[in-house]
Amino acid sequence: MVVRTVPGEASVALSDEGEKLFAPSAERNLGPIADLLVQIAPKPSDGNAPRLRALEIASGTGQHVIGFAVCCGHLNWQPTDVDQARLSSINAYVADSGCTNISPALQLDATEAPWPDTIGKFDLIVLCNLLHLISIPEAQALIQGAATHLAPRGQFVIYGPFKRGGVLTSDGDHAFHSKLAAHDPEVGYKDDFDVMDWLQSNGLDMSEVIEMPANNLALVAMQKPG
Ligand SMILES: C[S@@+](CC[C@H](N)C(=O)[O-])C[C@H]1O[C@@H](n2cnc3c(N)ncnc32)[C@H](O)[C@@H]1O
Repeated sequence: MVVRTVPGEASVALSDEGEKLFAPSAERNLGPIADLLVQIAPKPSDGNAPRLRALEIASGTGQHVIGFAVCCGHLNWQPTDVDQARLSSINAYVADSGCTNISPALQLDATEAPWPDTIGKFDLIVLCNLLHLISIPEAQALIQGAATHLAPRGQFVIYGPFKRGGVLTSDGDHAFHSKLAAHDPEVGYKDDFDVMDWLQSNGLDMSEVIEMPANNLALVAMQKPG
């Protein structure tokens, strides 16, 4: 595993109480991402069908998965992260949430392909705010891992900042990308068309590209129907 560090504001996680970490950015973008998931999350075929499964890659503090589990209560959520402090934070949020549809956080290096078979298949996989913090080969390996673990017709949602057709489209994005690349030349914003190519070359069909607040994008891709 490559351990990458990021400049401060790329991954803010200040201690709040106990093991819980707090990221102001996660609080800001939870609402729009949750609204999107309500629209696109797979729905059970009938009332007796087993609960559908959702995986969050790089869950971070755990603030997101609590919100996702509330707005998409018909899904069983599996949070993951590579970092032990984040895993403890996620579990602390889950314990306080009262949510019964979230499993204990699993350690997963999403850039290490193949992912362990034991993790199983998911009807929804969500990734927020990681692709710009890893290298291109790591991003490709992550997409390969997610595609392999999507159930038939499963949806993969990638949210975050992107280059658009090779171009950084705001001053803020330009500054952030430059700061990331200066800190670690292997990381930085990925191009939206490259990511769509990687999704498609792993057998997924693009279903939607959605403009999100703060000049972010959500790319939604679907696994073939079995
Ligand atoms: C910027 S934070 C985003 C957290 C959360 N998804 C959000 O949007 O608030 C990036 C997260 O990715 C995790 N991470 C970094 N490299 C990873 C990897 N190779 N596999 C899984 N998670 C990773 C970090 O530990 C951190 O929690």
